[in-house]
Amino acid sequence: MERKITVPDLQRMKDAGTKITALTAYDFSFGRIVDAAGVDVILVGDSLGMVVQGLETTLPVTLEETIYHCRMVARARRRALLVADLPFLTYQVSVQDALRNAGRLIKEGGAEAVKLEGGIAMAETIAALAAVDIPVMGHVGLTPQSVHRMGGHRVQGRRRGQGPGERERVIADAHAVADAGAFAVVLEGIPLDLAAEITAQIDIPTIGIGAGRHCDGQILVLHDVLGLFGDFAPKFAKRYADLGRAAVEAIAEYAGEVRGGVFPDDAHSFLLRAEQPSVATIDVTPAPAIDAIPTPPLEHGPPTSIGGAPGRSRRRRAVG
Ligand code: KIV
Repeated sequence: MERKITVPDLQRMKDAGTKITALTAYDFSFGRIVDAAGVDVILVGDSLGMVVQGLETTLPVTLEETIYHCRMVARARRRALLVADLPFLTYQVSVQDALRNAGRLIKEGGAEAVKLEGGIAMAETIAALAAVDIPVMGHVGLTPQSVHRMGGHRVQGRRRGQGPGERERVIADAHAVADAGAFAVVLEGIPLDLAAEITAQIDIPTIGIGAGRHCDGQILVLHDVLGLFGDFAPKFAKRYADLGRAAVEAIAEYAGEVRGGVFPDDAHSFLLRAEQPSVATIDVTPAPAIDAIPTPPLEHGPPTSIGGAPGRSRRRRAVG
């Protein structure tokens, strides 16, 4: 097995000019795949709200959900450094909250570090976490938990100024995160020259997403890389495979073979004795498709839940 990646390794990589690779994962199967591919950092991002839960934003994701997903990835991870996102409102209210909730991601989720969004406003929190040896990855620029302030997931740092999302403010935020003791910082959705400037100015590694090629490393959302999230992909996300389409085709083929009586065949069945071919004769004439089956009139109205008999649902509604 290759040597385990640790928090200090990322600094060594920046210092040596070795690019850091990072990707999100949210469960055991993909955690194993991402780890086996040799990615240095796996992030259990709150992007899980959008790509796993089908939400519009990351805001509703909870700490319990993140711990649940993180635990699955932790079981799969062998080499990569495992970082978990602190969800919205689990660290902004008080430093005590941040300490307790970050501690839970480490203790219950199996994360080795946490990530939180925000710059100057989060400096005290980052310092408090670092002081008790909870490694923190910062996140500045386009911070998805600030979606309402930004008016959408919009590129930041294009305009000069000190206001939230303006160029000099993004630089100051990155410095604040580094000075507070973060071990790395994600730069999201900013012009590449701004990312280059920050990367040159601060000592800790910068991990870019939609921030161009001059960062010390790169991170993307797994579903964007593998083409698992429908046809939508942000401009900065390169699709390296179209697994979504491949999955639809494979599943349609499976369903077609079941309907056609092709699957399961003998090779995928248990025979009476290993050397003996099946003597059972089966009718493999394809049955009529669902649309061709006449629908009987409903006697009791439709069932209200999957697997629930109409009668039982009616009785349950009547109780109370
Ligand atoms: O939630 C997430 O996946 C992230 C990365 C995309 C940086 O924050």
